[in-house]
Amino acid sequence: MPAAQLTDLRVDADRLVRRIEELGAIGGLEGGGCARLALTDEDRLGRDLVGTWMEDLGLDVHIDAIGNVVGTLAGREDGAPVMTGSHIDTVATGGLYDGNLGVLAGLEVLETLARAGVTTRRPMAVGYFTDEEGARFAPDMLGSLVYVGGLTVEDAYDVVGVDGAVLGEELDRIGYRGATPCPGRTPFAFVELHIEQGPVLEDAAIGIGVVTGVQGISWQEVRVTGRSSHAGTTPMHLRRDAGYVAMRLGTFVRELAGELGEPQVGTVGRLDLRPDLVNVVAASATMTVDLRNVSEAVLEEAEWRFAACCDELAAAEHCTIERTALARFAPVDFDPRVVDLVEATARRLGNTTLRMPSGAGHDAQMMARVCPTAMVFVPSVGGISHNVEEFTEPADLEAGANVLLQTLLHLAETEADDWAEADHQATESPWAAS
Ligand code: GLV
Ligand code: MN
Ligand code: MN
Repeated sequence: MPAAQLTDLRVDADRLVRRIEELGAIGGLEGGGCARLALTDEDRLGRDLVGTWMEDLGLDVHIDAIGNVVGTLAGREDGAPVMTGSHIDTVATGGLYDGNLGVLAGLEVLETLARAGVTTRRPMAVGYFTDEEGARFAPDMLGSLVYVGGLTVEDAYDVVGVDGAVLGEELDRIGYRGATPCPGRTPFAFVELHIEQGPVLEDAAIGIGVVTGVQGISWQEVRVTGRSSHAGTTPMHLRRDAGYVAMRLGTFVRELAGELGEPQVGTVGRLDLRPDLVNVVAASATMTVDLRNVSEAVLEEAEWRFAACCDELAAAEHCTIERTALARFAPVDFDPRVVDLVEATARRLGNTTLRMPSGAGHDAQMMARVCPTAMVFVPSVGGISHNVEEFTEPADLEAGANVLLQTLLHLAETEADDWAEADHQATESPWAAS
């Protein structure tokens, strides 16, 4: 197919929306969302469905040792594929779009090409990575971290989940410990489509977010140990109250974010008091702290200020505090050539665009360690995500999927050594001469 016709190719938005709904019905929740925590039975059913769609399309499908699944459409030449994808695991209060859009839009791109009889120069691959959410097994982006060699499979197998399950055993139990070795094959480039999960695009009435990078992420589990005692008889100054310390730490995280100013964010998402009784001073408190910033220096400041606050409160209340790092990823800048390409492609297709960093973690931030990478965002209604009400308008899903299609097509056709030089001007074809 000549280049001019390739630039006219568009995805089938109805098929994409149908698949998002069909996948979202697995682990479906009241209110419209779904729960497919990593390596649960629901995750297995979701994997099986997406695997069927990949096989039906005739992709060459491989499952690797950590359960990442990659389907490849052959190119005219062998060599590193242009890759897209995301994740299909969700948080326990998940929506239908987080991650799932990136995988199903990638599948839709490959199906569009296959149905049009297009064989690109480079192979094209779509994958889904194990345990992006980290809601059951920390860290988040675990599968893509293993894919790029940032964590060994052996260490990943030993991770214990919040429910006490062992990751390697769960992978075996659901039948997704595959034969393909990790680290995985390095792609020519990686582009991920994702919902924004925040309110910026909607607020600015912009159609496509051109993602310039991902902010740094610091997750800690904090365990405070005090002594349980009678709530009525123990004078306040003789208590070793782990609950009080945890709640002070919680308010400190909030105030710290305010003092450091935007874009610093801080969240205590879990808090577990023991023995959790109305008339007993808490003997222990276990909580999580999520700190994020686009600046590594400010993120480090947030971490040391939080650590100092722990020391101070532990001494004052005669408690002990143990802090365990659950995840720590520095901020990531995407490849400017791919960022430019996404922007030019989105504009050529008639979209308004905004360059923005990502507040959420994504598999693309791991892939950026090994190959030129960028992301495409589409608006989230009300900026809501990790919530059953998560929603993106079908027209926005379609626009994002078409930007993904045309960006991947460009990357799959361009000369390996001159793709950075390609003409990315908004109204011009982004095709390299061929
Ligand atoms: C992953 O979704 C994260 O950003 O927490
Ligand atoms: Mn996601
Ligand atoms: Mn998520």
